[in-house]
Amino acid sequence: MKTPLVRVLVLFGTLQLLSIGGAAPPAPPQKFPDYGFQAPPGPSPSPNFVLSQDYPTKKPDPSKLPAFFAKLPKAVTNTDFAGWHDYMMAVRDYCFEGNLEIDWRVQENKVRKWYHIPWQHYGDTGRESVHGLTKEAPVQPGQLAAGQGRPTPTENYQTYAVGFFNDFGGYSIGQVWKNHFAPDASATTTPNGFLEGTVISKLLFVDVPSEQVPSLVNPVQWMGYIQKTYQEFARSVRSVNLIQMDIAIKDRRAPDGWFFGTFQYNGQLANKGGWENLVPVGIMWGNDPTITDSTYTNPTPTETKINPNLKESAINPNPKELPPTHLGWNGRLNGPVDNPQSSCMSCHMTAEYPALSAMSPLFTAKPPPVGSKDWMRWFQNEKCAVPFDAKAKSSDFSLQLAISLQNFDAGYTKLGGIYAAPPQPTPSKKIAPMSPGAELQMRAMAPSEAAKAAKETEPVSDGEIIHPILRDVLPTEPPK
Ligand code: HEC
Repeated sequence: MKTPLVRVLVLFGTLQLLSIGGAAPPAPPQKFPDYGFQAPPGPSPSPNFVLSQDYPTKKPDPSKLPAFFAKLPKAVTNTDFAGWHDYMMAVRDYCFEGNLEIDWRVQENKVRKWYHIPWQHYGDTGRESVHGLTKEAPVQPGQLAAGQGRPTPTENYQTYAVGFFNDFGGYSIGQVWKNHFAPDASATTTPNGFLEGTVISKLLFVDVPSEQVPSLVNPVQWMGYIQKTYQEFARSVRSVNLIQMDIAIKDRRAPDGWFFGTFQYNGQLANKGGWENLVPVGIMWGNDPTITDSTYTNPTPTETKINPNLKESAINPNPKELPPTHLGWNGRLNGPVDNPQSSCMSCHMTAEYPALSAMSPLFTAKPPPVGSKDWMRWFQNEKCAVPFDAKAKSSDFSLQLAISLQNFDAGYTKLGGIYAAPPQPTPSKKIAPMSPGAELQMRAMAPSEAAKAAKETEPVSDGEIIHPILRDVLPTEPPK
């Protein structure tokens, strides 16, 4: 099937290129493109997505940290979730404030402005025009609930997401991207980094029909210009259901500088307005590097298994509030659409430019045995702003920032410095479906052809390897 994918052609930079050497005053910086996939004309569900990109150029006042900072539990331990519950609800309120009534068009927020990362318009998974959503991980059968399946016998449902940075975070994005044609990755690498007070939130949606998952009753739905399935690239405007909200908070009281937390949608609570059905799953501040078993790994959850041996993830123990969920490797924190063999901080501490290591041991050419010394490289505790590989610059735990820099290289630098209209219309194409065997392998996360395929071997000048920064991989996905 041929569906024309109209992509916006933004000739960004042309003016500046023309004015080089001339007497004309320098043109004001061009805007970053808003999105890559333009929904076809029709009854528009909402105004087109606009990238919030007026990044603050003055440091926000460090004495005006978000008020919820005062709610941090006195001791950063996981012995009593009640304090974390209060704290997380205060963070949730901070993220909701002024955003719910404007459908998260965050630059119109009357209480405080939020900002988006540039350069996520680019590529096959880039932003679409309705809500700025990027395509993320596939949803495995049974991952959300026992009755949750597939859109066709061989394909997968999919995740779409969009993230927002508060003014402290927006300032740091602006420092990296001050020069739109020469980003400065050192702004987030030690001794620099995201400012104390940075708050990032990210909304995640699935195209799984709400009837397949008990906790997706009374759904909060957005429209998005999305693919037919994870595998089939043809797009149309369809609805997606809110499943998860992630948060990341830069706070020097966190042992390594960041707290990562997540909320899961529970429509059975039937709260008015819907968004309040996002309930805390948990929060983490470390990877528990000494714990190497897999006893509590739980890829197709019928109950939430809390690992009492972990000390650096705190998980919501109330099954009346939190629907059965799989968490991450051996019970470390992860959300419902995340990989059950990973954790928030395991992936995020690898954020660097260039991406010299994969985000997870699973995504390497030869995945090491689960729990081995090599595997545990991804479950150490790394300090914020310290690069995962000595030769790279840290993106200070922000994978969106790392992606923006990588996309800029692909969509600008490698094109000889001529920007870079986003890619021309892509023909509709299909990724090979997963074989049932391969899928089981993915669940067990044994070394697989999959990971081999996912590891792109794109040489850069110093002979190193740059890894694609993907939320997850499918075992039979061919290398791009
Ligand atoms: C398998 C790796 C992986 C895991 C596990 C993971 N993330 Fe991410 N995360 C990503 C990638 C890749 C992005 C960037 C893509 C995007 O958001 O468009 C991202 C983006 C984000 C962002 C937006 C800010 C940024 O620049 O990184 C936040 C906040 C976030 N994740 C929080 C979390 C939390 C909280 C968890 C655990 C509940 C989690 N993530 C688990 C890979 C992961």
